[in-house]
Amino acid sequence: MTFSETHETETQDAARTLFVELTGREPDGLWSAPGRVSLIGEHTDYNDGFVLPFAIPHRTVAAVGLRDDDRGRVRVASTFAAEPVEVALDELDEIFPTLRPAQGPGSDRRPAVPEWAAYPLGVAWALRQALTTDGAERSFRGMDIAIASDVPVGAGLSSSAAIEGAAASALNDLWDAGLDRTALARVGRRAENEAVGAPTGIMDQMASMLGEPDAAIFLDCRSLEAQLVPLGVAEAGLAILVIDTRVKHAHSTGGYGERRASCELGAEIMGVPALRDVSVDDLPRAAELMDDVTFRRVRHIVTENQRVLDTVRVLREDGARAIGDLLVASHVSMRDDFEISVPELDTAVDAALAAGALGARMTGGGFGGAAIALIERDAVESVSDAVTAAFAASGFTAPVLFTVTPSAGAHRDA
Ligand code: GLA
Repeated sequence: MTFSETHETETQDAARTLFVELTGREPDGLWSAPGRVSLIGEHTDYNDGFVLPFAIPHRTVAAVGLRDDDRGRVRVASTFAAEPVEVALDELDEIFPTLRPAQGPGSDRRPAVPEWAAYPLGVAWALRQALTTDGAERSFRGMDIAIASDVPVGAGLSSSAAIEGAAASALNDLWDAGLDRTALARVGRRAENEAVGAPTGIMDQMASMLGEPDAAIFLDCRSLEAQLVPLGVAEAGLAILVIDTRVKHAHSTGGYGERRASCELGAEIMGVPALRDVSVDDLPRAAELMDDVTFRRVRHIVTENQRVLDTVRVLREDGARAIGDLLVASHVSMRDDFEISVPELDTAVDAALAAGALGARMTGGGFGGAAIALIERDAVESVSDAVTAAFAASGFTAPVLFTVTPSAGAHRDA
């Protein structure tokens, strides 16, 4: 059994055990979904642009069973929380009022359930809404949901999309909803935007739903058309190292929403529906039309979109060994133009590069979380040691380091 299979079994056992403790019976099934690493393409998703993430071996497992009491109640429990939360499906419409996705910073909305429970309950709410748009009366059986996960939380590896993906897959099966993976990703994003209140795009949910071993997902966030791009990291004698800085971030507050608002302003000034419609050649005109901060936000998105397209081409033509410079350019753009890096992430990237990494960049939404480094397979230890030493020298909390391989997306496990 491989390392990730051992982990998966442990997480499945934890979810099943919690379910049995909660209900005194066996679940109807186990469903799981992974976290993701974004290889390149940051903050481009909500600008209708391109992204290139892949699913990681770390997964969230939901042990789920329909309830017999038939009062349409949902109970959720998590190995991370002391108490389960129980609500009637009808009540969810009051708990999660419909918000505009980009409600943005300064929102004083507070969820009426603990944040961890807003993810699975938000999925139940969003899926139910998706199934009743035709106004037809439909009854939904209640259920018990027990969640366990080995996706690091707050590390920028989409622990939230993993919960959403596992819950959405389970409910889709148990309610016979018949939605496809893309529709389930939309349900997950709606939960994230409107139940949790984080104004994110759809990259994480699509990566978690569509992941495949050894491939990244090249996604057009406007059409939601996805292509699998073989990464060939292992074949090239390489590895992808994750450096979790342990600086926690949250996208339901602060900087993420502000960046999104700047992008919307930039698109409005350029007279286009989204920054996807601005090309690198348009940047001189953009510089004349907008203030410096807005321009630099726009420049990041426009150049990052181009870097995603370039990375896909280079991967196909020359393989993983050739993408290092694009990863570095992406980090520099996020550090200097989009200003979403933090000293720990810059230290991780600089130390990895100094220790021989072919490329490195922060991954995910920023303001904390993790960086990735593309390194020689036999340099995992030396690069890890160098990064750990650089953190110690700067007086930072020791990072957590591990390698990841592109892995399968959401599925039923048992
Ligand atoms: C978070 C969001 C995504 C995406 C990334 C940045 O992970 O959930 O939608 O915007 O940040 O690329």
